[in-house]
Amino acid sequence: MPFFITFEGIEGSGKTTQLLRLLEYLQGLDYQVVATREPGGCPISDSIRTLLLDPANDEMASRTELLLYSAARAQHVVEFIKPALAAGKIVLCDRFSDATTVYQGEGRGLDRKKLEEINEFAAEGLTPDLTLLLDYPAEEGLQRARERNQVGNLESEGRFELETLTFHQRIRQGYLDLATHEERVYIIDALGDEDVVTERTISVIDRFIASRSSA
Ligand code: TMP
Repeated sequence: MPFFITFEGIEGSGKTTQLLRLLEYLQGLDYQVVATREPGGCPISDSIRTLLLDPANDEMASRTELLLYSAARAQHVVEFIKPALAAGKIVLCDRFSDATTVYQGEGRGLDRKKLEEINEFAAEGLTPDLTLLLDYPAEEGLQRARERNQVGNLESEGRFELETLTFHQRIRQGYLDLATHEERVYIIDALGDEDVVTERTISVIDRFIASRSSA
């Protein structure tokens, strides 16, 4: 049952934690499942990730940023995602093209039509079967992400975390708007206890797999 499932949300929304919990849950059900992330997921894309997230690169132009995210995706799709799907695996991916639509579109103000074309090109037409949008308030999310970086000494992960609260509020709204247009996007309330959020996530996945199995 090869499914491509992506996780989206603002910084600090808890999507990575939920993805790892879902990985464990699906492995426990004996599914063949792998987890990956964007930008990254293979050596070339990991190198691009380092460039993209380095706070020292604060002069990066928006178009450069867009093309680097897209280049990382192109390699990731060919080298990792498509082969895993072809081998019948479920692929759980931390961010995908929707992040480009929202961060480079809403965040950086790049042209939507152009983004659609570039996303299509970079992903070779691959779109997720299901997208889980972990919805979380921007202020709390940003605070959580900044605290996490300090604790883990992960300053190098922080180029977007240096952006203003208004920027992150636009990102949150951009994701919510996307969910109203795309049927594959499910909004999950990420506020509250992590275990409760996991229950919400698992309930969406269970329903999705059941619907595909009976189709
Ligand atoms: P992460 O914090 O979820 O690992 O994601 C890295 C950062 O990259 C995050 O701030 C969102 C941003 N991003 C984009 O701006 N465009 C993209 O296409 C992707 C995949 C991520």
